Amino acid sequence: MEIIRGKQASFMDAAALTAVTEDYPSVHLDLGTGDGRYVAHQAVAQPRHFVIGLDACRENLVEVSRRAPGNSLFVIANALDLPGELDGMADSLSINFPWGSLLEGLLLADSPLWASLRRVTRPGTRLDVRLNGGALAEAHWSLETGAVQIRRMLIEQGFALRPAEKLTAGDLKAFPTSWAKRLAFGRDPRAIHLTGLRQV
Ligand SMILES: C[S@@+](CC[C@H](N)C(=O)[O-])C[C@H]1O[C@@H](n2cnc3c(N)ncnc32)[C@H](O)[C@@H]1O
Repeated sequence: MEIIRGKQASFMDAAALTAVTEDYPSVHLDLGTGDGRYVAHQAVAQPRHFVIGLDACRENLVEVSRRAPGNSLFVIANALDLPGELDGMADSLSINFPWGSLLEGLLLADSPLWASLRRVTRPGTRLDVRLNGGALAEAHWSLETGAVQIRRMLIEQGFALRPAEKLTAGDLKAFPTSWAKRLAFGRDPRAIHLTGLRQV
């Protein structure tokens, strides 16, 4: 799979990925990581755990990956066709404020995203999805109906989810991603958090 550190892109195979992660008790995968701020934050906050950020857009990852902590890695890939090197790797997985094809993938029953997610997770993997009203409006859903639809899709895919939780502007301000901050201070600071565990 293609990884990035600063402006330098290279390829990492499954054996090399195992070698860099094997001393850590858990691996977290953040899909649609944007500028990678969440990954950098989690890697510093939890130095005994390994954190992987993945996004289709390489430009946003140049800065954060240049000074990334040793327990983090940045991957350039399409979440709808995740690299085989990540198969079975995720003890926990987050998708924070998705838009575009990643959000559409979560909304559609026949999206290739589901096969990707099933490959990289295992029974017991924790999932956190945070959705915002503006992105769903662009996809022609309201925040509430979009969240209900995505919750239904995730349950169909074998995730047992807690009831959806509304996030306030205060919650967004405190959440360590760039998009959360932007939403918190923007015109539509409404978001919903879905969380649960993969059962089967
Ligand atoms: C609104 S931004 C959120 C970024 C980050 N999670 C945050 O909270 O700051 C959505 C991100 O999803 C990424 N994205 C959209 N579709 C994707 C796909 N199919 N595969 C990988 N990344 C995707 C975009 O490139 C963008 O960086």
